[in-house]
Amino acid sequence: MLLHIDGGCIMSGIRNKEPKAINLTIDGKSCSGIFGQTILEIARENEIYIPTMCYLTKTLPIASCRMCVVDVEGVDGLILSCQEKATDGAVINTNNDELFKERQNIMKLYNVNHPLECGVCDKSGECDLQNKTMEFGVSGQNFTTKEPARPVQNWGVISYDPSLCIMCEKCVRVSTEITGDEALKVKFGGYSSTIINVKEDANYKTLGEAAAVCPVGALVDTSFKYTANAWELNKIPSACPHCGAGHDVNYEVKNGKVYRVTNQAEFSTLCSASRYGFDFDNKNVKKDVSSFNRAVKAFENAGTILFSNETTNEEALIFQKLKEEKGYKLVSHEAKAYQEFMKAYGSITGKSLASGTLEALTKSRAVIVMGTRIHDDAPIVKYHLNMASKWQRARVIYMHPMEDGEISNIVTQFIKYEAGSEEGVSALLVDTLLQDIELPESVQDVLDDLDIGNLSAESNVGEEELEALRKSLIKKVGYSLVVGSDLYTHPRAKNIAKLLALLEKYAGFNVICVPPAGNAMGISLICDLDSETEGSTIGYNVQGDFTLSALGEGDLDIPALNQQEGTLTGLTKRVVPINVVLEYGGYVLNDIANALGLDAEYTINYTEQLPIAKGFKSVEFDTLPDYFDAVGTEHRGYLLNEVETAVDEVIEEVAEMDGFDGTVIYNCNPQEHFSPFTAKSKNLEQNAYLLGSQQFATAAKLTDGDTVCYTIDAVKFERVFKIDTSIKGTIALNPTFDMGLSTALLSSYRFSQVDLEKVGS
Ligand code: SF4
Ligand code: SF4
Ligand code: FES
Repeated sequence: MLLHIDGGCIMSGIRNKEPKAINLTIDGKSCSGIFGQTILEIARENEIYIPTMCYLTKTLPIASCRMCVVDVEGVDGLILSCQEKATDGAVINTNNDELFKERQNIMKLYNVNHPLECGVCDKSGECDLQNKTMEFGVSGQNFTTKEPARPVQNWGVISYDPSLCIMCEKCVRVSTEITGDEALKVKFGGYSSTIINVKEDANYKTLGEAAAVCPVGALVDTSFKYTANAWELNKIPSACPHCGAGHDVNYEVKNGKVYRVTNQAEFSTLCSASRYGFDFDNKNVKKDVSSFNRAVKAFENAGTILFSNETTNEEALIFQKLKEEKGYKLVSHEAKAYQEFMKAYGSITGKSLASGTLEALTKSRAVIVMGTRIHDDAPIVKYHLNMASKWQRARVIYMHPMEDGEISNIVTQFIKYEAGSEEGVSALLVDTLLQDIELPESVQDVLDDLDIGNLSAESNVGEEELEALRKSLIKKVGYSLVVGSDLYTHPRAKNIAKLLALLEKYAGFNVICVPPAGNAMGISLICDLDSETEGSTIGYNVQGDFTLSALGEGDLDIPALNQQEGTLTGLTKRVVPINVVLEYGGYVLNDIANALGLDAEYTINYTEQLPIAKGFKSVEFDTLPDYFDAVGTEHRGYLLNEVETAVDEVIEEVAEMDGFDGTVIYNCNPQEHFSPFTAKSKNLEQNAYLLGSQQFATAAKLTDGDTVCYTIDAVKFERVFKIDTSIKGTIALNPTFDMGLSTALLSSYRFSQVDLEKVGS
């Protein structure tokens, strides 16, 4: 589809060019590949081993080590297979005496002055240098050079030992191309070349991703250093329960304690909450029969089950079945808001979920982000945004009431709108981008009736800003739209969803509706949720009249998400398994459900009963795959099936906007935090302050260090106020992750007008 607009045309969607097949011979084996692939990629796909030291599948080729050299018939000299594109008909040798010698010499050079510290090095047992030194028969250090003094550097979550560094640059590429913190750089200096951290003060926890790809012991997690040997740790595969992306994690355990989290860093990237927020288990729980009996009684008398996003798909299904049997109201605020939003969205697109993917986001040339502080809400999405910026030079248009300095390096246009004006802004966006598209009459009528001048004035989005946005999309191929939680809880969420869905349906945008953290997407698909409570409440990781809690503060203990089996459904639309990582000796929800009349031996008996009508598959838990193959294809759980929904295409007129006066705060957690479970993690320990600009402080008559009280959704906050010079404007940031069992009680729009009461200074 082509969108013709004045001054140019916008091509819609991600262009799927027909891939051109090529055939070549590698080590005598006929191999096929696709035009544009490198020799290394095709070799790997065809299960042919080529050694590498600096290659990292998820970044552009680094080409610094020369280990991947191959011989291409008819071509003089050795070729770097990691960066050389394969050609049709090529005949390639990956292994002969000359290549072996070349690689052996490289390994000898790596070992010049590399201290023989394997006995105490954290990488020992999983070190590429150790492995390849043996593979290429380098049995001694034949020559040395004078070693400059290079002290170990402590960079917060990681530490760097320059004497162990082989200058492969993987860490720099991850920091630049993937996480986008841009903290690590190469300081060139011949033999004294080293890696430097140019943003030490920022203390980025995303640097853990750089350590994860380091092939040697040069970059290691500070918390792991000198605590255990790799071979002593039992690796338990699971999925991260925090941010909602459900990434692959291996909890590495010894004697009932998690020592570290690792992942398939060659192919996937974790956010810092996954990597470091692993110590959130509910410890030392034993079966307490009288508390269990009280819990069963409380369920029998309750009218409502109130639950947080830290609920597996199977537990959500148990709640749904209990609702069907006993008539409970099921209340889970964030999941309900997301459910309603997606329902409205689907009434335009005819599909139950937005069709966007992170892979397509990475390939986008223009991305609009709206209604989310994406760097904090969904770090993984921010990483993909960064990849699009770095690899495609994507235009990134960030639309939000608050500027975010953490993404200013990738944002090409910031459009500030007034808090509360998201419906008007959505209408302006749609009107701008669908100008010359044929739309159903009912939709066109609504757009024709828009009072653009008024919407512009009320939202504070200038027509010239929209024009600049429109121009940035001209002739670009592949657009994405990323939206988030600000919109789901907005009083006009349904109409916003419908308006934005037009961009997917009629302009081919790759739309990602980032689900709230945890398993909000799974819950929204499985449960028939209610808005209001009725009768007495059972709280499940939420404060209720009777509370079941994995935080250790309730009437009955339940297991945390690293102490139970089950599945989660994440923003990638993948249903992934979680496993028991740490021991738990108490009761689980399934015990109560059985006491109430359901019948399942284990919670995971419900995995194959997840609702097929909502896209789940009837698959037994024990048969769910959980691995990446050699070329990085993910075989973890399964992808949800696409589900069709009824289409009505009824858009309402944009409602009058209610402006915000007085003191406005925005509920938003800092990047590593999502819930009381990340708050529990020692590695992620952080004070929760109300953060505002000097301008906010002046307007609210506050000084740095004052203690203030305010109430949102009947949840009372008492916080120290801090001035943050990186924040602009008159809205303050209010974290919620530390509010324990009250966290999930917050249900309203993320911007609130509050009365601040100063209670101390
Ligand atoms: S980095 Fe590898 S080779 Fe070097 S000391 Fe550590 S384990 Fe040994
Ligand atoms: S610190 Fe590790 S990843 Fe970075 S250049 Fe050195 S060896 Fe490579
Ligand atoms: S893997 Fe090709 S140069 Fe390092």
